[in-house]
Amino acid sequence: MKPEFLSTAAYKPKASKGLAVGILVTDALKLSSLAGKLDKETGGLISRALSEAKFKGKAGQVTHLFAPATVPYGQIVIVGLGEEKKITPLSYEAAGGALVAKANGLGIKKLDVLLDTAPGKKLAKGEAAARLAFGAELKAYRFDKYFTKQKEEDKPTLASVSVVTPEAAEAKKLYPAFEALREGVFLTRNVVTEPANVIHPESLAAECKKLEADGVKVTILGEAQMKKLGMGALLGVGQGSAFESQLVIMEWNGGKKGEAPLAFVGKGVCFDTGGISIKPAGGMEEMKWDMGGAGTVLGLMKTLAGRKAKINAVGVAGLVENMPGHEAQRPGDVVTSMSGQTIEVLNTDAEGRLVLADALWYTKEKYKPKFMIDLATLTGAIIISLGKEYAGLFSNDDKLAEKLMKLGEVTGEKTWRLPLGDAYDKQINSQIADMQNIGKDREAGSITAAQFLQRFVGDVPWVHLDIAGTAWSKADTPTVPKGATAFGVRLLNELVSEYEK
Ligand code: BES
Ligand code: ZN
Ligand code: ZN
Repeated sequence: MKPEFLSTAAYKPKASKGLAVGILVTDALKLSSLAGKLDKETGGLISRALSEAKFKGKAGQVTHLFAPATVPYGQIVIVGLGEEKKITPLSYEAAGGALVAKANGLGIKKLDVLLDTAPGKKLAKGEAAARLAFGAELKAYRFDKYFTKQKEEDKPTLASVSVVTPEAAEAKKLYPAFEALREGVFLTRNVVTEPANVIHPESLAAECKKLEADGVKVTILGEAQMKKLGMGALLGVGQGSAFESQLVIMEWNGGKKGEAPLAFVGKGVCFDTGGISIKPAGGMEEMKWDMGGAGTVLGLMKTLAGRKAKINAVGVAGLVENMPGHEAQRPGDVVTSMSGQTIEVLNTDAEGRLVLADALWYTKEKYKPKFMIDLATLTGAIIISLGKEYAGLFSNDDKLAEKLMKLGEVTGEKTWRLPLGDAYDKQINSQIADMQNIGKDREAGSITAAQFLQRFVGDVPWVHLDIAGTAWSKADTPTVPKGATAFGVRLLNELVSEYEK
């Protein structure tokens, strides 16, 4: 469903079966000039609907009516933008998403959205139209490859969306960057949704390797190479799996030669059974998305390459499968990380931090990055703290932390900072090794996990995003169908843009 931008002046709709029109209104319920014209042609049907219906133009509210034969459209869909002073670029994405959802429910095949005026401040020329189209695309995402039979009524009908705007030329110029973002987001959603018999450490590494076609340099380290580097923490987690653990390094060099890169590091536990400290059966299937951090790093690199970002960036994914078995590591085992620090593994289910310990250390040593940001579905405790609205943010750098929190509001991928400190750090000291992989008790579980990571980042400005609550959603949102959210791709793409300026 590739969206199109049509200029208002040249817009001449021709009647066809399944053609519908989309109209946006704020809670003032005022019609744009094109919508007003259409209202006249329908004999005042739209204004009557707006005065009779329960629809009040609230953000995300949608209503629909069948059109008379005097106009080329079969149906009219009206979507609310809410209060004018609260409209942001995301309001247009949400409107695009709402229109797509409704159109598919109504059997609409082609939708022309009349956007001759775009209320709201702080929007660049063409941005409202581009955002609307982007929101429509994000919402239209489906993962249906495993259905062999699909009921007719479950199939989407909408095949194309056109945005009618006086700023069509500007929207077209803006759109390639959104397309790059869409490609990244969809790639992340795809790999995160795939079951663990399909996406495992080796096949996910192969997915990463495909970025070479986009101009990304991809290096894959297997177990023998990681052993040479001394990555005992990562390797310990994967040692019970039939799949070989992998460390994937994706380099995008779009910036100045020799300039320090921005680094992104992802937890890629392709399935987390808990290992010998095995998880309960109920809900364990969710642990297929325990590679969400790595999935986001992959999608981000795809986006950066797709829009030819003028920056050097490196994405690192630590890919393992955490399985029980006679070769699996045991609670109480002591492993030596690449940093030389030893770790007593008291719980094999606290495995993400072990993977990241070596991935972060490797990234810091090899790339001396400007900053490192890791993403990980690290702790169940973060879901208890923040629910599914905000990802947990931990950092040794106030400026970077604040920047990310601000961009969270702009992109809709929100983060909330939690503290780090010596008192928490003490809780992971071990009796027989440099540290243990869980706290002394269950208190502050997300923070002690972050303290553990901090022992592997040295002085590099670093942010840890605990995305256990945000990587997967059980409910639809305006632009994210339920399932893998690709949380972080948009946020970090926006952050990278700031460094390109
Ligand atoms: N992958 C899990 C965290 C998780 C839980 C992600 C729920 C998404 C949804 C992680 O590896 C884990 O098992 N963490 C343990 C740590 C504990 C043993 C200290 C947890 O959170 O219970
Ligand atoms: Zn675990
Ligand atoms: Zn895990």
